[in-house]
Amino acid sequence: MKHFINLKDISSADLRKIILDAKKRKKKRKNYNTLDLDKDNPLKGKLLVQMFEKASLRTRLSFYLAIKQLGGGTTTLRANELHLGKGGESLADIAKILSTYGDGFMLRTDSDEKMEEFSKHLTIPIINGLSPSSHPTQVLSDIFTVEEIKKKPISKLNICWIGDSNNVLNSLIAASVKFSFKLNIACPKNYKPKKSILDWVKKNKRKINIFNDAKKAVKNTDVIFSDKVFSLNDKMNKAKKIKDFKNFKINSKLMSLAKKDAVFLHCLPRGSEVTDDVFLGKQSKVWQQALNRVYVQKSILLYCFGKLR
Ligand code: CP
Ligand code: NVA
Repeated sequence: MKHFINLKDISSADLRKIILDAKKRKKKRKNYNTLDLDKDNPLKGKLLVQMFEKASLRTRLSFYLAIKQLGGGTTTLRANELHLGKGGESLADIAKILSTYGDGFMLRTDSDEKMEEFSKHLTIPIINGLSPSSHPTQVLSDIFTVEEIKKKPISKLNICWIGDSNNVLNSLIAASVKFSFKLNIACPKNYKPKKSILDWVKKNKRKINIFNDAKKAVKNTDVIFSDKVFSLNDKMNKAKKIKDFKNFKINSKLMSLAKKDAVFLHCLPRGSEVTDDVFLGKQSKVWQQALNRVYVQKSILLYCFGKLR
């Protein structure tokens, strides 16, 4: 069994294997109904327990479909309905129960420490369904989407992120090292990625380019990513942050400065960081991106359960 907590801790070879498996499985499902099982039914009889400490639409539904299509089942726990939330039961005991009843655990949490603690006490795999510091299932799926759209390895493409240095960007930075792609980041001066993350990139002999000017960052890029300026539980002063990000909105003029066939991606939900005409326009592939999470998470589950072919 293997955990799936941070992309930086998983080998490039394993990440590539997950993507290849997802590609094969997606191809085989043409004309299938939503809940039809994959022919090989590889997770028959397995239960994935999901727990959300924060809101979720896509992650919740895509894991539901993923485990179902592989032949297993899922149940969702609400953190505030457990004894853990009120301090009435230790995390270690809860982890023991989860490992006894279930076969895998997907956690969306507001604490990276909690994710770590669970991983130490569980004897079943844990999957990070978003934490304050990363969103690895989202970004691996996004790599899949980029390669599907562009029909080439992401290492041959120029990727751009415009926005906050948040959990999604942290995972994208980790992916840029694991998959060796060029990454430009545009953000206001005081919103750069943490030094520890930039040091990790350097240690791995890669470089990312950080710009204070979105127009310069998008130049010659194939894909433009963005995300909300305010992540869940963001404690920043709202008015100040909105002002700081006012020159980092993605509009059609900015899109026109990227490559002609550049695409726009966004993990959703969206805020005011992108205009409607870009978000709903021809270059936007956000719905394809959202659906692909089902396919990639299936292969992530197989990786965790030791069943990746
Ligand atoms: N992109 C994403 O993780 O969406 P949800 O927050 O709705 O799960
Ligand atoms: N950065 C966002 C991603 C939501 C899917 C957040 O953490 O809220």
